Amino acid sequence: MVYLWSVLSFGSLTTALAALLMVAERYLVSYGICKLDINAGEKPLEVEGGRTLLSTLYENEIFIPSACGGKGTCGHCKITVTSGGGPVLPTETPYLSRKEIRSNVRLACQVKIREDIYVRIPEELLNIRMFASTVESVSELTHDIKEIRLRLDEPAELSHRPGQYVQIQAPSSNEPVFRAYSISSPVYEPNKVELVVKLVPGGVASTYLHSLKTGDTVHFTGPYGEFRLNEDPSVEIVCVGGGCGMAPMKNIIYTIYDKWPDRSCWLFFGCRTTDDIFYLERFEELAKKHPNFHVVYALSEQLGPDERWEGETGFIHLSVDKYLETGVKRQAFLCGPPPMIEAVTRVLDEKGIPSDDIFYDEF
Ligand code: FES
Repeated sequence: MVYLWSVLSFGSLTTALAALLMVAERYLVSYGICKLDINAGEKPLEVEGGRTLLSTLYENEIFIPSACGGKGTCGHCKITVTSGGGPVLPTETPYLSRKEIRSNVRLACQVKIREDIYVRIPEELLNIRMFASTVESVSELTHDIKEIRLRLDEPAELSHRPGQYVQIQAPSSNEPVFRAYSISSPVYEPNKVELVVKLVPGGVASTYLHSLKTGDTVHFTGPYGEFRLNEDPSVEIVCVGGGCGMAPMKNIIYTIYDKWPDRSCWLFFGCRTTDDIFYLERFEELAKKHPNFHVVYALSEQLGPDERWEGETGFIHLSVDKYLETGVKRQAFLCGPPPMIEAVTRVLDEKGIPSDDIFYDEF
């Protein structure tokens, strides 16, 4: 008991000291004006020291991916700091490989500007813009998932690749809060951004997005994301997901059938119960027009007494295993919770898809 008290007291003391140091640094220490050099003189800035690299870049309209809003929990805000970033912090190491640490990759949300700092940022990220948009429609897809369609106002168009995402700005009285959402509208609708948003209890951004009404203004940055669809139409595309993992897959599927009407593509979508099913009729209509498009929905829970379902049952990786033959050249895109991604990846591996051709987005 005495030991437990000592541990607890020591823990509270170190937390209080850390908080005190943070407050002291914020209000008592002045680092003055520091040089922030981007890409060896391409974009030299003079900035006030003492803030994080991520928020300083944001103030200068350079929008680095930051799905967790700068909390140091997503690992998305990686950039190269060639000098002036100080030592790598313990909060960064879980997200950086040894190779990245050797190459001076850092988490921009964890690096504080305390002296002149030199960074390298890929050109693609320097082109990311802030968009203002208006809510065009809000539809309930299930009890906790909404489809939100935004019409772009300024800039009026967004050019993106299927599988990319935007970062929605949620209202906040302090630092700006951004959260990542995949674009579900196809690339041939450049003046629209559609989102599929699941309400997360206590989630700042999902609560905000679920409260939106037609005519409201929404700001976001983008587009972000590395995924590149294989442009060879003979390569079969396999999309596997569940819940709001539908968003990037819908974009990929509609984009494919606009460009390659005969391309072969599978959609495997896992739901718990019939209440979680959405877009099924829409995809069945698409499959009637494009015979090489195959749609498989599966329910993982037992049917209730009033539920009717003639489709697949069980976890979605079982359907993937059942329907896909081996020996076909494919590219796969998975979007869902880590256990689902792991199970599906194992099946795809057995079907002979090289790991380089399997892309995933965990949530
Ligand atoms: S913004 Fe998420 S880890 Fe830096």
